[in-house]
Amino acid sequence: MKKRFNFKATAMISTAILGSALFLAGCSGDNDDAKTAQAPAAEQNTMAVKQPAPMEAPKEALQPAPAAIEEVKTAVEEKVAEVKEEVAEMVAATPSGEKAYATCVGCHGSKAEGGVGPRLNNQSAADIVAKLEKYKAGEQMGPMTGMMAPMATGLSSDDMKSIAEYVITLN
Ligand code: HEC
Repeated sequence: MKKRFNFKATAMISTAILGSALFLAGCSGDNDDAKTAQAPAAEQNTMAVKQPAPMEAPKEALQPAPAAIEEVKTAVEEKVAEVKEEVAEMVAATPSGEKAYATCVGCHGSKAEGGVGPRLNNQSAADIVAKLEKYKAGEQMGPMTGMMAPMATGLSSDDMKSIAEYVITLN
């Protein structure tokens, strides 16, 4: 089966990018806390016990420059927008039959190999459409007509055709 795109991978990339964006947003907030927190002065200590040297304030160089943070944030935001656009394009490019078949997969299988419902990928597109029209018209077909009929009633003739054309590519 050919795969036009991979939603899972795209979702993972988006999550990673959003994660970095959130991380960066977190970093830029409270840079100053460590600098203002001073260790108690050594003179205040009346005990003879040797105290560890007061902690030095972090060096300026360790803090990323706000401009650099902004730059990375902008880059991440641009990348997120780019990925969103790509996903929208991929969804738009997916044939409508493939999208509509998503509601059938649970019973007929991802390759229309059959499951709860009969195998479809060994039938002609015309046969599939003809059967769907009959279910839609309320004809009694097999013993499980009651399960299938509601699935067909929502389909237009065009929907049936595009689904059938997609299904016959799955064999
Ligand atoms: C809830 C499970 C279920 C779903 C969802 C479902 N079907 Fe079915 N389908 C069946 C069952 C069960 C039958 C056999 C019914 C009978 O006994 O007549 C069937 C029969 C069919 C048949 C006739 C097959 C044959 O050779 O007799 C076609 C074509 C078909 N389905 C297409 C679809 C399409 C297209 C969709 C999605 C829009 C769909 N089905 C969704 C369960 C389902």
